[in-house]
Amino acid sequence: MAKLTGKVAVVTGASKGIGAGIAKELAAQGASVVVNYASSKEGAEKVVAEITKAGGKAIAVGGSVAKAGDIEKLFAETKKAYGKVDILVNNAGVYAFAPLEAITEEEIDRIFDTNVKGLLLATKAGVALFPPEGGSVINIGSVASEQTPPMSGVYSGTKGAVDAITRVFAKELGPKKIRVNAVNPGPVVTEGFKSSGVEGSDFEKSMLQGTPLGRLGQPDDVATVVAFLASDDARWVTGSLLQAAGGLR
Ligand SMILES: NC(=O)c1ccc[n+]([C@@H]2O[C@H](COP(=O)([O-])OP(=O)(O)OC[C@H]3O[C@@H](n4cnc5c(N)ncnc54)[C@H](OP(=O)(O)O)[C@@H]3O)[C@@H](O)[C@H]2O)c1
Repeated sequence: MAKLTGKVAVVTGASKGIGAGIAKELAAQGASVVVNYASSKEGAEKVVAEITKAGGKAIAVGGSVAKAGDIEKLFAETKKAYGKVDILVNNAGVYAFAPLEAITEEEIDRIFDTNVKGLLLATKAGVALFPPEGGSVINIGSVASEQTPPMSGVYSGTKGAVDAITRVFAKELGPKKIRVNAVNPGPVVTEGFKSSGVEGSDFEKSMLQGTPLGRLGQPDDVATVVAFLASDDARWVTGSLLQAAGGLR
Protein backbone atom coordinates (compact mmCIF):
# COMPACT_ATOMS: atom_id res chain seq x y z
CA MET A 1 0.00 0.00 0.00
CA ALA A 2 1.24 3.51 -0.80
CA LYS A 3 2.62 5.37 2.25
CA LEU A 4 -0.01 8.14 2.33
CA THR A 5 -3.14 6.14 1.52
CA GLY A 6 -6.18 7.56 3.35
CA LYS A 7 -4.43 10.84 4.14
CA VAL A 8 -5.66 14.29 3.11
CA ALA A 9 -3.02 16.85 2.14
CA VAL A 10 -3.38 20.58 1.53
CA VAL A 11 -0.55 22.13 -0.49
CA THR A 12 -0.63 25.93 -0.68
CA GLY A 13 0.66 27.53 -3.88
CA ALA A 14 0.51 24.31 -5.90
CA SER A 15 -0.43 25.62 -9.35
CA LYS A 16 3.19 25.56 -10.47
CA GLY A 17 6.80 25.14 -9.36
CA ILE A 18 7.76 23.31 -6.19
CA GLY A 19 4.16 23.21 -4.89
CA ALA A 20 2.92 21.46 -8.04
CA GLY A 21 5.73 18.91 -7.68
CA ILE A 22 4.79 18.31 -4.04
CA ALA A 23 1.07 17.91 -4.86
CA LYS A 24 1.87 15.30 -7.52
CA GLU A 25 4.26 13.38 -5.27
CA LEU A 26 1.86 13.27 -2.29
CA ALA A 27 -0.94 12.09 -4.61
CA ALA A 28 1.35 9.43 -6.10
CA GLN A 29 1.95 8.21 -2.52
CA GLY A 30 -1.83 7.83 -2.06
CA ALA A 31 -2.97 11.10 -0.45
CA SER A 32 -6.06 13.04 -1.55
CA VAL A 33 -4.65 16.47 -2.35
CA VAL A 34 -6.05 20.00 -2.24
CA VAL A 35 -4.16 21.98 -4.88
CA ASN A 36 -4.34 25.62 -3.76
CA TYR A 37 -3.57 28.54 -6.06
CA ALA A 38 -3.75 32.34 -5.84
CA SER A 39 -4.31 33.38 -9.47
CA SER A 40 -3.38 30.48 -11.78
CA LYS A 41 -6.64 28.50 -11.90
CA GLU A 42 -5.56 26.94 -15.18
CA GLY A 43 -2.24 25.80 -13.72
CA ALA A 44 -3.95 24.26 -10.69
CA GLU A 45 -6.50 22.46 -12.87
CA LYS A 46 -3.66 21.06 -14.97
CA VAL A 47 -2.00 19.67 -11.83
CA VAL A 48 -5.34 18.12 -10.76
CA ALA A 49 -5.80 16.61 -14.25
CA GLU A 50 -2.30 15.06 -14.15
CA ILE A 51 -2.99 13.58 -10.72
CA THR A 52 -6.38 12.12 -11.66
CA LYS A 53 -5.00 10.77 -14.95
CA ALA A 54 -2.39 8.88 -12.93
CA GLY A 55 -5.16 7.38 -10.75
CA GLY A 56 -4.88 9.83 -7.83
CA LYS A 57 -7.35 12.14 -6.11
CA ALA A 58 -7.18 15.94 -6.08
CA ILE A 59 -9.23 19.13 -6.23
CA ALA A 60 -8.18 22.70 -7.03
CA VAL A 61 -9.18 25.43 -4.58
CA GLY A 62 -8.39 29.09 -5.16
CA GLY A 63 -7.49 31.61 -2.46
CA SER A 64 -4.59 33.82 -1.46
CA VAL A 65 -2.91 32.85 1.81
CA ALA A 66 -2.16 36.57 2.22
CA LYS A 67 -5.88 37.08 2.95
CA ALA A 68 -7.41 35.69 6.13
CA GLY A 69 -10.87 35.36 4.51
CA ASP A 70 -9.45 33.32 1.61
CA ILE A 71 -7.72 30.97 4.05
CA GLU A 72 -11.01 30.35 5.84
CA LYS A 73 -12.64 29.51 2.51
CA LEU A 74 -9.77 27.23 1.48
CA PHE A 75 -10.13 25.10 4.60
CA ALA A 76 -13.95 25.20 4.51
CA GLU A 77 -13.75 23.76 0.96
CA THR A 78 -11.25 21.18 2.13
CA LYS A 79 -13.52 20.10 4.98
CA LYS A 80 -16.47 19.88 2.61
CA ALA A 81 -14.57 17.73 0.09
CA TYR A 82 -12.49 15.49 2.36
CA GLY A 83 -13.67 16.05 5.97
CA LYS A 84 -10.21 16.53 7.56
CA VAL A 85 -6.56 17.46 7.02
CA ASP A 86 -3.63 15.14 7.89
CA ILE A 87 -0.83 16.90 6.01
CA LEU A 88 -0.40 20.65 5.52
CA VAL A 89 2.36 21.88 3.24
CA ASN A 90 2.90 25.63 3.58
CA ASN A 91 4.60 26.14 0.24
CA ALA A 92 3.02 29.36 -1.11
CA GLY A 93 5.77 31.93 -1.24
CA VAL A 94 6.98 34.92 -3.18
CA TYR A 95 10.51 36.21 -3.60
CA ALA A 96 12.33 39.20 -5.01
CA PHE A 97 15.82 40.52 -4.48
CA ALA A 98 16.82 44.16 -4.03
CA PRO A 99 19.48 46.20 -2.23
CA LEU A 100 18.56 47.95 1.03
CA GLU A 101 18.05 51.34 -0.62
CA ALA A 102 15.44 49.87 -3.01
CA ILE A 103 13.36 48.15 -0.30
CA THR A 104 9.85 49.59 -0.04
CA GLU A 105 7.06 49.24 2.49
CA GLU A 106 4.87 47.70 -0.24
CA GLU A 107 7.44 44.99 -1.01
CA ILE A 108 7.94 44.20 2.68
CA ASP A 109 4.18 43.82 3.13
CA ARG A 110 3.77 41.76 -0.06
CA ILE A 111 6.51 39.27 0.80
CA PHE A 112 5.82 39.02 4.55
CA ASP A 113 2.04 38.75 4.00
CA THR A 114 2.39 35.57 1.94
CA ASN A 115 5.54 33.98 3.36
CA VAL A 116 4.92 34.65 7.08
CA LYS A 117 1.39 35.88 7.86
CA GLY A 118 -0.08 33.41 5.36
CA LEU A 119 1.91 30.52 6.80
CA LEU A 120 0.81 31.38 10.35
CA LEU A 121 -2.87 31.71 9.48
CA ALA A 122 -2.92 28.63 7.21
CA THR A 123 -1.32 26.60 10.01
CA LYS A 124 -3.97 27.82 12.47
CA ALA A 125 -6.83 26.93 10.11
CA GLY A 126 -5.29 23.65 8.89
CA VAL A 127 -4.35 22.26 12.29
CA ALA A 128 -7.93 22.87 13.48
CA LEU A 129 -8.98 20.14 10.99
CA PHE A 130 -6.33 17.59 12.01
CA PRO A 131 -7.79 14.39 13.54
CA PRO A 132 -6.99 13.24 17.12
CA GLU A 133 -4.26 10.95 15.68
CA GLY A 134 -2.29 14.10 14.75
CA GLY A 135 -0.49 14.73 11.47
CA SER A 136 2.30 16.59 9.77
CA VAL A 137 2.93 20.24 8.91
CA ILE A 138 5.74 20.91 6.45
CA ASN A 139 6.90 24.47 5.87
CA ILE A 140 8.86 25.32 2.76
CA GLY A 141 11.63 27.62 3.91
CA SER A 142 14.85 28.33 2.01
CA VAL A 143 18.60 27.94 2.43
CA ALA A 144 18.50 31.75 2.19
CA SER A 145 17.74 31.87 5.93
CA GLU A 146 21.25 30.53 6.65
CA GLN A 147 23.06 31.53 3.50
CA THR A 148 21.82 35.15 3.89
CA PRO A 149 23.01 36.41 0.47
CA PRO A 150 23.21 40.15 -0.16
CA MET A 151 20.05 41.74 -1.68
CA SER A 152 17.81 39.27 0.14
CA GLY A 153 17.06 41.29 3.28
CA VAL A 154 13.28 40.98 2.99
CA TYR A 155 13.12 37.43 1.61
CA SER A 156 15.76 35.96 3.96
CA GLY A 157 13.93 37.76 6.79
CA THR A 158 10.73 35.87 5.94
CA LYS A 159 12.52 32.54 5.70
CA GLY A 160 14.34 33.12 9.01
CA ALA A 161 10.87 33.62 10.46
CA VAL A 162 9.74 30.33 8.87
CA ASP A 163 12.63 28.49 10.58
CA ALA A 164 11.72 29.97 13.97
CA ILE A 165 7.97 29.38 13.55
CA THR A 166 8.66 25.74 12.57
CA ARG A 167 10.57 25.15 15.82
CA VAL A 168 7.97 26.94 17.95
CA PHE A 169 5.01 24.96 16.58
CA ALA A 170 6.94 21.68 16.81
CA LYS A 171 7.06 22.30 20.57
CA GLU A 172 3.54 23.64 20.84
CA LEU A 173 1.84 20.96 18.75
CA GLY A 174 3.95 17.94 19.71
CA PRO A 175 1.57 17.03 22.55
CA LYS A 176 -1.20 16.78 19.92
CA LYS A 177 0.95 14.33 17.90
CA ILE A 178 1.39 16.95 15.20
CA ARG A 179 4.90 17.06 13.76
CA VAL A 180 6.16 20.34 12.30
CA ASN A 181 9.23 20.44 10.07
CA ALA A 182 10.70 22.64 7.35
CA VAL A 183 12.23 21.70 4.04
CA ASN A 184 14.70 24.38 2.99
CA PRO A 185 15.51 24.20 -0.73
CA GLY A 186 18.48 25.63 -2.55
CA PRO A 187 17.92 27.07 -6.05
CA VAL A 188 15.19 25.12 -7.85
CA VAL A 189 14.24 25.69 -11.48
CA THR A 190 10.61 26.89 -11.33
CA GLU A 191 8.45 29.50 -13.01
CA GLY A 192 9.12 31.89 -10.11
CA PHE A 193 12.88 31.25 -10.26
CA LYS A 194 12.85 32.12 -13.97
CA SER A 195 10.76 35.28 -13.63
CA SER A 196 12.72 36.56 -10.61
CA GLY A 197 15.73 37.21 -12.84
CA VAL A 198 17.97 34.74 -10.95
CA GLU A 199 18.21 32.41 -13.95
CA GLY A 200 21.37 33.20 -15.93
CA SER A 201 22.58 35.78 -13.36
CA ASP A 202 25.91 35.97 -11.46
CA PHE A 203 23.90 35.12 -8.35
CA GLU A 204 22.87 31.80 -9.96
CA LYS A 205 26.51 31.17 -10.95
CA SER A 206 27.76 31.76 -7.41
CA MET A 207 25.08 29.48 -5.95
CA LEU A 208 26.01 26.73 -8.41
CA GLN A 209 29.69 27.10 -7.53
CA GLY A 210 28.78 26.66 -3.86
CA THR A 211 26.67 23.55 -4.52
CA PRO A 212 28.69 20.35 -3.96
CA LEU A 213 26.27 18.28 -6.06
CA GLY A 214 26.94 20.69 -8.92
CA ARG A 215 23.47 21.31 -10.32
CA LEU A 216 20.30 23.29 -9.73
CA GLY A 217 17.34 21.52 -8.13
CA GLN A 218 14.11 20.37 -9.77
CA PRO A 219 10.71 20.43 -8.01
CA ASP A 220 10.73 16.64 -7.54
CA ASP A 221 14.07 16.87 -5.66
CA VAL A 222 12.15 18.76 -2.97
CA ALA A 223 8.85 16.86 -3.29
CA THR A 224 10.27 13.47 -2.30
CA VAL A 225 11.76 14.99 0.88
CA VAL A 226 8.37 16.52 1.74
CA ALA A 227 6.68 13.14 1.14
CA PHE A 228 9.15 11.52 3.56
CA LEU A 229 8.36 14.08 6.28
CA ALA A 230 4.62 13.61 5.66
CA SER A 231 4.88 9.84 6.08
CA ASP A 232 5.13 7.63 9.14
CA ASP A 233 8.77 6.98 8.19
CA ALA A 234 9.45 10.39 9.80
CA ARG A 235 7.37 9.65 12.92
CA TRP A 236 10.22 10.64 15.28
CA VAL A 237 11.16 13.78 13.34
CA THR A 238 9.82 17.16 14.43
CA GLY A 239 11.25 20.66 14.70
CA SER A 240 13.79 19.82 11.99
CA LEU A 241 14.98 22.10 9.22
CA LEU A 242 15.89 19.73 6.42
CA GLN A 243 17.98 21.22 3.63
CA ALA A 244 17.28 19.98 0.11
CA ALA A 245 19.91 22.05 -1.58
CA GLY A 246 22.57 19.82 -3.13
CA GLY A 247 24.78 20.72 -0.16
CA LEU A 248 24.66 24.52 -0.65
CA ARG A 249 25.00 26.38 2.64
N1 LIG B 1 12.60 28.11 -6.61
C1 LIG B 1 13.56 28.27 -5.73
O1 LIG B 1 14.73 28.42 -6.09
C2 LIG B 1 13.26 28.24 -4.25
C3 LIG B 1 14.35 28.09 -3.36
C4 LIG B 1 14.10 28.06 -1.99
C5 LIG B 1 12.81 28.16 -1.52
N2 LIG B 1 11.78 28.31 -2.41
C6 LIG B 1 10.42 28.43 -1.85
O2 LIG B 1 9.60 27.44 -2.44
C7 LIG B 1 8.26 27.93 -2.50
C8 LIG B 1 7.75 27.81 -3.94
O3 LIG B 1 8.61 28.53 -4.80
P1 LIG B 1 8.56 28.34 -6.39
O4 LIG B 1 9.90 28.66 -6.90
O5 LIG B 1 7.93 27.05 -6.72
O6 LIG B 1 7.58 29.55 -6.77
P2 LIG B 1 6.69 29.82 -8.08
O7 LIG B 1 7.18 29.02 -9.24
O8 LIG B 1 6.64 31.30 -8.21
O9 LIG B 1 5.26 29.30 -7.64
C9 LIG B 1 4.65 29.92 -6.53
C10 LIG B 1 3.35 29.27 -6.21
O10 LIG B 1 2.83 29.90 -5.03
C11 LIG B 1 1.56 30.44 -5.32
N3 LIG B 1 1.32 31.65 -4.54
C12 LIG B 1 2.01 32.81 -4.54
N4 LIG B 1 1.46 33.67 -3.67
C13 LIG B 1 0.40 33.02 -3.13
C14 LIG B 1 -0.56 33.37 -2.18
N5 LIG B 1 -0.58 34.58 -1.59
N6 LIG B 1 -1.52 32.47 -1.86
C15 LIG B 1 -1.54 31.24 -2.42
N7 LIG B 1 -0.64 30.85 -3.33
C16 LIG B 1 0.32 31.74 -3.68
C17 LIG B 1 1.51 30.66 -6.81
O11 LIG B 1 0.15 30.64 -7.21
P3 LIG B 1 -0.37 31.48 -8.49
O12 LIG B 1 0.49 31.10 -9.63
O13 LIG B 1 -1.79 31.03 -8.61
O14 LIG B 1 -0.24 32.92 -8.14
C18 LIG B 1 2.31 29.45 -7.30
O15 LIG B 1 1.49 28.31 -7.33
C19 LIG B 1 8.29 29.35 -1.96
O16 LIG B 1 7.94 29.34 -0.60
C20 LIG B 1 9.74 29.75 -2.13
O17 LIG B 1 10.13 30.75 -1.23
C21 LIG B 1 11.98 28.36 -3.76
